[in-house]
Amino acid sequence: MKNRLLLLLLLLTGFKPLFGQNNFNIRSGLMPQLAPFYHGVASGDPLSNRVIIWTRITPDSPTQPGELLTLNWRVSTDVAMNNIVATGTTNTSSLRDYTVKVDVTGLNPKTCYFYDFSYGGVNSLIGRMKTAPETAADSVRFAIVSCSDYENGYFNAYASIVERNDVDAVLHLGDYFYEYVASAGVDGRLAEPSNEIISISDYRSRYSHYRLDEDLRNIHQQYAFITVWDDHESANNAWKNGAENHTEGTEGSWTTRKASAKQAYFEWMPIRELNSDTSIYRKISYGNLLNLYMLDTRLEGREVQLAATDQQTNNPDRTMLGIDQYNWLANELGNSTAQWNIIGQQVMMAPLKAFGVVLNTDQWDGYPAERTKLYNHVLDNNIQNLVVLTGDIHTSWANDLPFAGYNSSTGAGSVGVEYVITSVTSSSSPIGFPSSVISAANPHIKWSDLSKKGYLVLDINQQRVQGDYWFCENITTHSTTVSLGNKFYVNSGERFLRNSSTVSSRNHSNCEQAPMIDPTINVSELNNELVWIGAYPNPFEKEITVQYNAATQGKIKVKVISQEGKLLQTIDYLTLEGLNYLKINGENLNSGTYQIQITDSKSNKLMRIVKL
Ligand SMILES: [Fe+2]
Repeated sequence: MKNRLLLLLLLLTGFKPLFGQNNFNIRSGLMPQLAPFYHGVASGDPLSNRVIIWTRITPDSPTQPGELLTLNWRVSTDVAMNNIVATGTTNTSSLRDYTVKVDVTGLNPKTCYFYDFSYGGVNSLIGRMKTAPETAADSVRFAIVSCSDYENGYFNAYASIVERNDVDAVLHLGDYFYEYVASAGVDGRLAEPSNEIISISDYRSRYSHYRLDEDLRNIHQQYAFITVWDDHESANNAWKNGAENHTEGTEGSWTTRKASAKQAYFEWMPIRELNSDTSIYRKISYGNLLNLYMLDTRLEGREVQLAATDQQTNNPDRTMLGIDQYNWLANELGNSTAQWNIIGQQVMMAPLKAFGVVLNTDQWDGYPAERTKLYNHVLDNNIQNLVVLTGDIHTSWANDLPFAGYNSSTGAGSVGVEYVITSVTSSSSPIGFPSSVISAANPHIKWSDLSKKGYLVLDINQQRVQGDYWFCENITTHSTTVSLGNKFYVNSGERFLRNSSTVSSRNHSNCEQAPMIDPTINVSELNNELVWIGAYPNPFEKEITVQYNAATQGKIKVKVISQEGKLLQTIDYLTLEGLNYLKINGENLNSGTYQIQITDSKSNKLMRIVKL
């Protein structure tokens, strides 16, 4: 109803607005006390001597494209930031959407660190991170997550991982967000921008929107992330030269869209940017205990998905990884001296058939020749202790990786093991068969759960790797209650899963947590001001989205003012509490610089926009 009223008001003015508004609750809103670091802090890709740290500034008003904003950063061994061990200065600009990324070097292995940023004399939140061990390592614990759709529910899995405070880092296996047009969200959780995201501005805006979720901001603050993208960071069922959810022409070129998706990913995610700024496959070592190989089965080299009956499926040259990535992986595995070789990737590696027919050719089943080549490489070179971690399908599976002569009773003939991790929130893909039927037809699948949401805790020591499946009580209300779904382990020297009778646990306390924002403080208690978040894209060609936060619901005026100070439009606007997104169609404006002014009873904000 409110939106209809607004639309009417704006139409009467002759202006052409398009709306996207959310009545956010406190879990997903903007916290003015974090200014200008509203999106918090993050860290990622921990090595034994270096970790990426990340933040984003939201300046009061957009800057010129080449204008640099200078920040300071520091790293300490104590949460009070007294024992500073590294400091530096860096800068950012609108060219990278005001995101900031520093690869902090010279750190000690297996050590907890705290870090923050400052800009204009204001400090960010303090983040926490832990470096990897250098040589000897008794044990490591990761939380593994994937598929976090903001609209489908609360990020309770993230909140639970923060609360349990017993893992060293978080692995996100992709579908960090979804590219779709906004639709009916749980509890009013609507994606922004409301359109399907296609342009660089769209992708940036959606990262911004997700990162204002309190649970996502908190988990990034407390743990280093090791991430890969899946398809939805670009578009559904993406492959090298296209995607199911991309229409060439009407949605522009895939080349451009893919480049935009990648650029925003590198800007917003705490991932180390390697020699090539377009690839994400990489190795992260945790001493002699494990090598973690993070793969890109989507954009790097994947050939198009085929129907299950297509004879080309079995073409020996068919690839999901691409030649360069496959050769890199094969070489790394062949040279590995680590106790465990752990692959973090997107789509299920174990076969999945019903009545002899492959169920999902988007998975490794659609690329069988390359899977066979990899299995042969592992066995021919006696590569031991292979563990595959998989996301993508929003359900939980515990699999052996069967090869020639596989015996499900003894595990003989298995190449390694696979943990498929359910989604944080994304809805479960319909399989069409109960778990019992799936395991009967696919005896290498030891267990599956086809509905629950949550995460996996992977506990690794020299003797065994154990994966514990933890499930959220629900995702429709905010809750940190979880329950244990199941638990499987693989012994060193074996290649098959065993059901465990006990849950894994950490045998020593974790680092002290970094102090978090008190979520019980209501935004309206802090101030009554409007806060600009941004305007995307700026400069713009046809349409610009103005993003701001209002402490309270109420009437505001939106004015469009020329560079000469001439008032071009005045719009009466009923704004909602929380984040607001005002889309303005500026097709009728001439090229040039304008001011957008918004005014409520307490404050008056100006933002400069540029029409190309
Ligand atoms: Fe997904």
